[in-house]
Amino acid sequence: MAEQNFQTLGEFIIDKQEDFQYSTGELSRLLSAIRLASKVVNREVNKAGIANIIGKAGNENIQGEEQQKLDVLANEIFIEALSQREVVCGIASEENDDFIEIHASCNAHLSKYVVLIDPLDGSSNIDVNVSVGTIFSIYRRVTEPGTPVALEDFLQKGINQIAAGYVVYGSSTMIVYTTGNGVNGFTLDPSLGTYYLSHPSMKFPENGKIYSINEGNYSKFPQGVKNYIKYCQLEEGDRPYTSRYIGSLVSDFHRNMIKGGIYIYPSTAQSPHGKLRLLYECNPMAFLAEQAGGKCTDGYRRILEIEPTELHQRVPFFCGSRKMVEKAEEFMQQQK
Ligand code: AHG
Ligand code: MN
Ligand code: MN
Repeated sequence: MAEQNFQTLGEFIIDKQEDFQYSTGELSRLLSAIRLASKVVNREVNKAGIANIIGKAGNENIQGEEQQKLDVLANEIFIEALSQREVVCGIASEENDDFIEIHASCNAHLSKYVVLIDPLDGSSNIDVNVSVGTIFSIYRRVTEPGTPVALEDFLQKGINQIAAGYVVYGSSTMIVYTTGNGVNGFTLDPSLGTYYLSHPSMKFPENGKIYSINEGNYSKFPQGVKNYIKYCQLEEGDRPYTSRYIGSLVSDFHRNMIKGGIYIYPSTAQSPHGKLRLLYECNPMAFLAEQAGGKCTDGYRRILEIEPTELHQRVPFFCGSRKMVEKAEEFMQQQK
């Protein structure tokens, strides 16, 4: 039998608390709340087919996207877990028009952290039993603790993130996160309900052979992206590369980080800013990617340095193995 690593996520969080000077344990409690909420969502995702939670919820989110029942449920579960435990002073979610201020008690009000979340990523895959995920991002508030949170607490550059991570509800459920000291992955043992450290120090291979992009939109892509795709397909050296696209950013990213690859969601003629959301999707993934030795840009600029101007802002996204992203950037630059 293969050797098992017996360090649990709970133990790991406490061990790592010492990495932060003057730590009060607040971030540890926050990460523990996310860990718990992810197990609840995992339970729901696992029984989706028999629990009448598949399908549309019948309303749209702020971005005009149809909400699925599981989008709504996962959103409620994370917001409940975070607000009840009084570990954050504010939450912004892809599924809510505006940020939520938490003032259930003075404790939450005094908390120094805000969370931004994509509670259910890859919604179109729910109904067909394909992996979905959750993406989260944590910042220290910039306004004074004890005062109401404000928009500026959420509109921070990605480089200010204190922690970020994702949960992938896949053939096994994993939580992968960083607090700025590398990236570690934990796999849920469903029989015990415990996450164990299974993927210590995750690293993007420097180069890879997988490209992930929705090629159905090819005709609407910028010329630089079209040329890069042709480059990936050319028979030369280690090419052609393999095309793999799940349609859940979390799952595509996770595979590319393990195997080496690039994920692209570019601007299109109709959506000049692409589809993915800077605050809920791109920044946390960019923080993880850089911590794992990868690279993340909008084709020209480092994602983590983009100054956000609105909560639901979108941005083109090129992310993955460093050499692949640099090659794609070369093609973008040639067409600028
Ligand atoms: P969400 O389900 O949170 O709206 O995100 C879906 C995102 C991302 O996960 C995925 O990679 C991409 O949208 C897929 O978009 P297309 O269907 O346009 O390829
Ligand atoms: Mn998403
Ligand atoms: Mn979502």
